[in-house]
Amino acid sequence: MPPKLLVVDDDPNARTQIKWALAQDFELFVAQDRPSALAVFRKERPAVVTLDLGLPPDAHGVEEGFRTLRALLKEDALTKVIIATGQDERQYALEAVEQGAYDFFRKPVQFDELKVLISRALHYYHLEQERRALHQSAPQEAFEGMLGDSPPMQEVFAAIGRVAATDVSVVISGESGSGKELVAQAIHRHSQRRAGPFIAINCGAIPENLLESELFGHEKGAFTGAHTQRKGRIELAQGGTLLLDEIGELPLALQVKLLRFLQARQIERVGGRTTIAVDVRVLAATHVDLSQAIQDGRFREDLYYRLNVVEIVVPPLRERGEDILGLARAFLHRYAAESQRKISSYEPSALTTLTAYRWPGNVRELENRIQRAVIMAAGPLLTPADLGLPTPDAPATPQTLQEARAVIEADLIRQALARHHGNITHTAAELGLSRPTLRELMRKYDLRG
Ligand SMILES: Nc1ncnc2c1ncn2[C@@H]1O[C@H](COP(=O)(O)OP(=O)(O)OP(=O)(O)O)[C@@H](O)[C@H]1O
Ligand SMILES: [Mg+2]
Repeated sequence: MPPKLLVVDDDPNARTQIKWALAQDFELFVAQDRPSALAVFRKERPAVVTLDLGLPPDAHGVEEGFRTLRALLKEDALTKVIIATGQDERQYALEAVEQGAYDFFRKPVQFDELKVLISRALHYYHLEQERRALHQSAPQEAFEGMLGDSPPMQEVFAAIGRVAATDVSVVISGESGSGKELVAQAIHRHSQRRAGPFIAINCGAIPENLLESELFGHEKGAFTGAHTQRKGRIELAQGGTLLLDEIGELPLALQVKLLRFLQARQIERVGGRTTIAVDVRVLAATHVDLSQAIQDGRFREDLYYRLNVVEIVVPPLRERGEDILGLARAFLHRYAAESQRKISSYEPSALTTLTAYRWPGNVRELENRIQRAVIMAAGPLLTPADLGLPTPDAPATPQTLQEARAVIEADLIRQALARHHGNITHTAAELGLSRPTLRELMRKYDLRG
């Protein structure tokens, strides 16, 4: 099928001329004013439009032409609009390009030049289309601020839904930066307690001697420096949810005290004599394997069973497949908007790198790398170097999807040929190709059997 071209011109002679010159190479559509141009555009979606700026009812001005340009680009910003100008309209043409037109040509038309212009516009259009398809596939639905279309994340969301309605304790385990705190918040927000407070305490970040009073609070004068009475995090979570983060770091003495609280549901502040009933839902998060910690004598088994009524395992990022790219897109948009930088997407090689990398720091690492890259990047597309990641092993960085495919295709064939010692029949069978097709591809990529 020849590519579609829409010619917008109010001069019937010009339309006939263009038709006569271009009908061989393009499927031509014509329009003589803005409404008819838009109607045709919506129906046919041509990649390229040539537009005469002097359209009725303002045939001697340019207003209506500019209006048409804006309307076309609003329909599809990737449309390549080429402006046709008369002899003295150069400044309008330049202005139109500033407003998003792709290029311009002078009337009377040099058709061979126009053809070159149109095919180049088509080429760009298709490149941009491929990019768009690659980068802007349907945005993911977020679950309480968490993105994840992959089956393991869908399982996590389902588990959150199941436990949220109950009051049971949950252990949320997962590598660092995988989203454990977000899971805890999601459980809280889906629960009956959502109107109550969500209080988190990081058991690994607070010095041991302060941890007890941080958790349970203290009375005035309980120890040197306790100038006033202070409520602990457990008490602050009254009526809501308490997240004990890095529970594996909790010292053994405090494990005993915490267990007592979980059994009795009441606390005593440090230095206090009255018991205070506290109604909280307890969640615990850990990046260490608690059963190993139990074996090593660092974690009490009885506390473990109290806390671990249900366990939710947050999978590492590298096991979430396409989620990596979904998250990468979302973070890019967020930080580009935040820093007001015109960075729209990733280079193809960056996408390969993002999916190949192991992400030891999981979602947090991904987010940090993208945030930094958005600030530092020189061009409009992020590269592996911007992300501080090694480039995947490719002979040259492919610039387009087509080139990337060619690199991969040639690689696969080369490897299969090597495995089968150049045997065409076996190689073709392994790759699911007919022998003539394989031969043709070998010629194309200059590969020998
Ligand atoms: N599924 C997700 N979708 C969007 N953002 C996410 C997702 N998971 C994590 N994040 C983001 O990644 C960062 C780390 O998440 P979070 O703090 O919940 O991880 P964590 O497992 O508690 O990490 P750590 O073990 O270091 O405490 C946060 O900025 C969070 O907003
Ligand atoms: Mg955390």
